[in-house]
Amino acid sequence: MAATTIEVEAAAGQPHHAKLERWVEEMARMCKPDRIHWCDGSAEEYESMLRLLVLTGTAIPLDAAKRPNSYLVRSDPADVARVEDQTFICSRSREDAGPTNNWEDPAKMKQKLTGLFSGSMVGRTMYVVPYSLGPIGSHIARIGVEITDSAYVVASMHIMTRVGMHVLEALGPDGEFVRGLHSVGAPLGPNQPDLTWRCNAENKWICHFPETREIWSFGSGYGGNALLAKKCHALRIASVQARDEGWMAEHMLILKMTSPSGQVKYFTGAFPSACGKTNLSMVIPTIPDWKVETIGDDIAWMKFGSDGRLYAINPEYGFFGVAPGTSMKSNPNAMLTVNRNSVFTNCAMTMEGDVWWEGMTADKPAKLIDWLRRPWTPESGRPAAHANARFTVLASQCPVIAPEWEDPKGVPIDAILFGGRRGGIVPLVTEAFNWQHGTFLGAAQSSETTAAIAGKVGQLRRDPMAMLAFCGYNMGDYFGHWLKMGKHAGARLPKIFYVNWFRRDENGKFMWPGYGENSRVLKWIFQRCDGKVHAKETPIGRIPEVLDLDISGLTIDALHVQELLSVDVHGWLEEVPRIKEHFAKFGDRLPQELNAELQNLEDRLKAARS
Ligand code: OXD
Ligand code: MN
Repeated sequence: MAATTIEVEAAAGQPHHAKLERWVEEMARMCKPDRIHWCDGSAEEYESMLRLLVLTGTAIPLDAAKRPNSYLVRSDPADVARVEDQTFICSRSREDAGPTNNWEDPAKMKQKLTGLFSGSMVGRTMYVVPYSLGPIGSHIARIGVEITDSAYVVASMHIMTRVGMHVLEALGPDGEFVRGLHSVGAPLGPNQPDLTWRCNAENKWICHFPETREIWSFGSGYGGNALLAKKCHALRIASVQARDEGWMAEHMLILKMTSPSGQVKYFTGAFPSACGKTNLSMVIPTIPDWKVETIGDDIAWMKFGSDGRLYAINPEYGFFGVAPGTSMKSNPNAMLTVNRNSVFTNCAMTMEGDVWWEGMTADKPAKLIDWLRRPWTPESGRPAAHANARFTVLASQCPVIAPEWEDPKGVPIDAILFGGRRGGIVPLVTEAFNWQHGTFLGAAQSSETTAAIAGKVGQLRRDPMAMLAFCGYNMGDYFGHWLKMGKHAGARLPKIFYVNWFRRDENGKFMWPGYGENSRVLKWIFQRCDGKVHAKETPIGRIPEVLDLDISGLTIDALHVQELLSVDVHGWLEEVPRIKEHFAKFGDRLPQELNAELQNLEDRLKAARS
C-alpha cells in the first residue's frame, strides 16, 4: 500500500477505496512517517492512544475513584488556543475568501506547506482516521479522513466524531470524503524520545482549500487547529459545500424544549466562542415543569425537509467544552457529563489526583499543580487552569441528551437564536420581524472577545452569525446564502431571535442572573413561535413587555427588568454607523437587502426619537 520501508497497520478485512489509499500513500511519501496506522475506532485503540500519551508524559491518569477512566493533558504554553492569524482560506480567487479571512493562493500555499510537511513525521506514526460527521446513514451526514501524527488528536477524534471501519464501509469503494492532513511539525531524530506535548511554536498554519475540499494543518496539536473535523471541516469546508448544495453549516447549539403540557420545540443558537453555548444547550430551567434537553452544543447542519421545515443534525459525537466557569451552579449537567471517561486539557491538578479550574468550586483548593505543572496556592496570584482549558467527552454521557439526538432525519427547528456578550444597549431578547430582518440581526452580531482565541480578551468585535472565524468563503456571499435559504420554495422558516444575557449596570454588575433563569427567555421564545404571548413592536424588533416575561419567583430589581426590555434609542443611533462601517467591508458582495434593513432601522430609530 505505501512505500516499502513504511510499516502499515490496517485492520483485517479493511474495505478498499483506491482514491483514499492513493492519497494516504502520497501524503506518506511527503511526510515520511515510520509507520502508518489505519484507525478502526475500537475501544482498544482509544486505550492504546492514552497509554502512549501517558508513557510520553503528555497525559496523567486521574484518580480512578474520583474520575474513572479520565486523563489530564497539559499542552505546550505556546499551543493553547485556535490561531486565527494563522488560519487561511486558500480559494482560487482572493475575493472568494472575502475580507474576513486570511487568504493565499492555493498553489503557493501548497508549495510552502509541502516544504514544511516534507519529513515532518520522521520517527513517528501516521494515523489515518476515517470519521463521519453526523449519524452514519443520515442524508445530512458527511465523511472525512484525517491523517495526523498526534495520538492526542486520534484519542480526541474518537470522542468528537464517529471513527472507524463502519465509516470506511459507508464510504464504499469510491465515496467522496474531505481530506485533512495534520502534523504537529516535530519529527523525531534517531533515538530521540518523544516526550511531552509536541508542536512547532514558530510555524503554525491552518489552511483550507475549499474548492478541493482539503485541509492542511501544520504545527499545532490543540483543539480546533488539530481536530480537523470540528471547525475546519464541519464549519469552514462544510459552509462552502452547504452554499453549493443549498443547506446550512452553522456554529450553533441545538436544544429541545418541552412545555408542561408536553409540547416540544427545537431551537438552534449561534453565539461566539465561550459565550455560554454549552451552558444553554444543557440548561436546567428554573420555571416549573419546563424541560430542556441537548442535541448539540457547538455545530448544527440544517437542510430543508420535504415539509418545508429546516431539519438540524449535530455532526459531532462529543463536547469540547471550555472548563473554567463550569460548575454545579453554572452547568450541573456538564459537570455530571465529565465525571468519567473524559480528557481534560490545561486544567489544574489537585493533590488527590483530580482536576480543578477557576469557578469550579466556591472555595479554591489550598494547593494545586497548575496547568504549567508548577505548585500553586490561592496566594500565587495567577490562574491555576488556562482560561481556555477544555474537557473532551462523549455527548452520550450527558444526563440530558435528548433521545433523538442521533436521529438521522434531524430535528425540525422552530427558532434560531443569535447573541453575544454586550454590556450595553442590546436588550435581553428581541424577535426579528421576519427572516430578512433576522439575517440582518445575525449579520450585525457582535460580542466582547473571550479566551477561546489567542490574543486580546474583552474587545468588541462583529461576529456575524458567530461565524467570523469559521466561514470558508466570502461572508458577503454567506449573507446572500442566508437570504436565499429564506426564499426556499415552500419553506416554513424558523423565527429568529437575538438574546443578550450579559447586560451590565452602572457598577459593572450583570443585570440578568443568567444560567437556569435564561429558561424564562426561552419560554417567551417558545410561546412566540405559536403567537401565544404578546410582544411590543420597537424600532429594533419585537420585545416582551415586562408582563410578558415569566419572572415569577425571581428576585430581580423591577427597574432592571424594565431596562433589559427597553430600547435605548440614542445608544442604537450611535450603533448604526458602526454597523454601516462593518457592512462596508463587504463592498459589492454585501446583499443590498442588508443595507436596506440598516436604513430601515435608522429611519425607525429617528422616527422614535422625534
Ligand atoms: C470552540 C470555539 O472550541 O468556538 O468551540 O472556539
Ligand atoms: Mn465553537
